[in-house]
Amino acid sequence: TNEKTIAYLGELGIVPLVTLHSVEEAVPLARALEEGGVPVAEVTFRSPYAIEGMKAIAAEVPGVTLVAGTVHDVDQAKAAVEAGCVGLVTPSFDEAVVDWALANDVLVLPGTAVPSDVEKAYDRGLRHVKFFPAEAYGGVKTLKALNGPFADVRFLPTGGVSLANARDYLSLENVFAIGGSFPVPSEAQKAHDWDAIVQACKDSRAVVEQ
Ligand code: 3PG
Repeated sequence: TNEKTIAYLGELGIVPLVTLHSVEEAVPLARALEEGGVPVAEVTFRSPYAIEGMKAIAAEVPGVTLVAGTVHDVDQAKAAVEAGCVGLVTPSFDEAVVDWALANDVLVLPGTAVPSDVEKAYDRGLRHVKFFPAEAYGGVKTLKALNGPFADVRFLPTGGVSLANARDYLSLENVFAIGGSFPVPSEAQKAHDWDAIVQACKDSRAVVEQ
């Protein structure tokens, strides 16, 4: 169920962003995430390989919890779910995508940046949202301020989150997990250096467990 998935993401503490440069790299990359102790991938619609990559991961690396990222419209949302994603993440509060997800009982973590975005999620009964772009929109300070009026909302800060500031975010009571590309360093991905990605995931997990 969606609650269980959210609880699981909270246990892992990190949601790595994956933008595929090819379909072929999807499976080894997902295996590296799993081996590194971060068995979840937010595969983004920032590349044309997203759908085929999701299908490959769903078929061959079932231990990895698959969510779709950078979902801009309902067609992408539907395609992602058909490809095996158990959740959707959107960069902004996209009403059409959120309402489709709610109507179809699909987990959605809508992007929010300001109180009016959070309110729209809140009014729909959502209590878990993404906070993006986290660093640019005030980071820890903004999350602390949002905890006043939205004390029962839990955030997934993403955008500028790194190993260096991960602890600051994770120590907030209204953060359930952090998101970002840092567990998949782009140089390592370009070089298909899966060992380096395993290590980056282990380093990321170590920060969560600190
Ligand atoms: C997102 O879409 O969540 C961000 O672009 C990820 O940002 P990062 O690369 O700074 O982690």
